[in-house]
Amino acid sequence: MAIKNILALVVLLSVVGVSVAIPQLLDLDYYRSKCPKAEEIVRGVTVQYVSRQKTLAAKLLRMHFHDCFVRGCDGSVLLKSAKNDAERDAVPNLTLKGYEVVDAAKTALERKCPNLISCADVLALVARDAVAVIGGPWWPVPLGRRDGRISKLNDALLNLPSPFADIKTLKKNFANKGLNAKDLVVLSGGHTIGISSCALVNSRLYNFTGKGDSDPSMNPSYVRELKRKCPPTDFRTSLNMDPGSALTFDTHYFKVVAQKKGLFTSDSTLLDDIETKNYVQTQAILPPVFSSFNKDFSDSMVKLGFVQILTGKNGEIRKRCAFPN
Ligand code: HEM
Repeated sequence: MAIKNILALVVLLSVVGVSVAIPQLLDLDYYRSKCPKAEEIVRGVTVQYVSRQKTLAAKLLRMHFHDCFVRGCDGSVLLKSAKNDAERDAVPNLTLKGYEVVDAAKTALERKCPNLISCADVLALVARDAVAVIGGPWWPVPLGRRDGRISKLNDALLNLPSPFADIKTLKKNFANKGLNAKDLVVLSGGHTIGISSCALVNSRLYNFTGKGDSDPSMNPSYVRELKRKCPPTDFRTSLNMDPGSALTFDTHYFKVVAQKKGLFTSDSTLLDDIETKNYVQTQAILPPVFSSFNKDFSDSMVKLGFVQILTGKNGEIRKRCAFPN
């Protein structure tokens, strides 16, 4: 059964109240008998790194997303290439950081349980634990993914959604991975943490349609604020994606988007579709205690973790995450 169908089945079953939340390709207890301390080991390493450098949480969450969207959650984003033509060399991935956290977790695991735990699983766990360190939601990570052997720069460019994309394109990007409009808006909420830079925003501020104008879908006061931070030729200054709340995992991002202060077109355009707009506006006004965002985010992260996975005899268990065996 295709992953899309499995996910549809799972969603259907959970809607009708049947508690089959997770398809059987992966298993929450996958390593329980062979390496019972696996999750504990990953958590220990992740806590050590992320509690010292909180900004890593955003980078690691994004790394897992970028892994899953390119050839599936197979650890291919971690592979290095001598010719610099692997996924990690693609422009959108040049700002990924935190590879050392995944490597340290993998090294610790290899010491205890050699040749057993895939880098794809390590990354999925590290991303989950990193978000938890900064007080974000926790989600279960079904395990048993295997690692891919191929990583191509072009695959990253073809599969990663663009910050300049409109809602139709984003919905298509996500549908291609078996994810729906709700997953799109919920997972975009990942932009409640982390940073970008003027480089990706300047085209919205200056000369949007070639007439020296700015993007009319942006709040004019936000345009003024961003212009102060980002002069026309500034491509370096960093910007919080959820201003005032960039290290806190919360629903503030949706408030920002609802006020037309989404940093990218891909954030703003969530207001251009009835379903995603309703979600943004609901989360923007609900007091945190009534918000379903944390639960929704957890559910969509579990789905993301199933995208095009390798299991069984496919792929391998890499010894080192940066190189195929
Ligand atoms: C909907 C399509 C998406 C687009 C077009 C998009 C695009 C981007 C871009 C352009 C950046 C800034 C990168 C930089 O300047 O270094 C970014 C950052 C980030 N994205 Fe997304 N993203 C999307 C979805 C997601 C999803 C699904 C997640 C995770 C669930 C996510 C998590 C993050 C995080 C945490 C950061 C901050 C990274 C940091 O602080 O270095 N994004 N995203």
